[in-house]
Amino acid sequence: MHLKIISSLIFLLVLLSIISCKHYPFLETNDYLTGTDTSGNNPPVVVPCDPDSVYFESQILPLFVSNCAQSGCHNTASHKDNYILDNYANIMSHGISPGHPTSGNIMNSILDGEMPQNAPNLTSEQIAMLQLWIMQGCQNNHCDAACDTNNVTYSGTIAPMMNTYCKGCHNSSTAGGGVRLDTYAYVSSLALSTANSLYNSVTANGVPIMPKGGPALPNCKIDEIRIWIQAGAPNN
Ligand code: HEC
Repeated sequence: MHLKIISSLIFLLVLLSIISCKHYPFLETNDYLTGTDTSGNNPPVVVPCDPDSVYFESQILPLFVSNCAQSGCHNTASHKDNYILDNYANIMSHGISPGHPTSGNIMNSILDGEMPQNAPNLTSEQIAMLQLWIMQGCQNNHCDAACDTNNVTYSGTIAPMMNTYCKGCHNSSTAGGGVRLDTYAYVSSLALSTANSLYNSVTANGVPIMPKGGPALPNCKIDEIRIWIQAGAPNN
């Protein structure tokens, strides 16, 4: 009996010391640990980007915002056919099926070229990325890419950024505000304009914040734009 009490006391002590050392990691939700919680209720967690994963926040949401959630289409106000495609909950609410990259109304409409309507089709790379994200379970995940502000180029930094975040609303058939961002000539002329239009648009300096209807660009991306403009917006 005596031995039993002592051994349970020891067990309790060991348990307590484990709990106090580990900062209660097992009391946190999985979402928090894997960086899938974007509710803002938890302190920010640094989640390094895994090249084999597709991340909702930086890769999938910008695609939907720029290609689908435009005024007149699938933003909250227009909600064509009851599809609102401007945030995770709305995108997941219907028409997309985790693990099934070729079914569901959203993928079907993209794959048969029906959507985006009256606009260029998604590129095969964009479709492949979307399908991989669906295969990986449609997670609401994010990652923190290293912010490399030393190697900012048009082809490696600015053009891919415009493609992801801006081009869906600023191309030859859809040019929001008369602005196109689908070639170097257009992007650089905005970047070097006396009104500083490119930089002001992503920092909401006197003009509406861009990307319109989506979250602001991450600070690293804004820094990259600034550095590129300060270097004279070269075509490199
Ligand atoms: C969902 C569609 C959409 C996305 C995505 C979007 N824009 Fe726009 N943009 C518009 C519309 C529409 C206008 C016209 C002004 C307005 O309605 O607010 C506009 C206007 C602008 C203007 C002109 C602002 C002015 O008044 O001088 C610039 C510059 C601009 N966008 C840059 C960007 C950049 C850079 C991105 C990507 C980081 C981006 N936009 C993403 C829809 C979009």
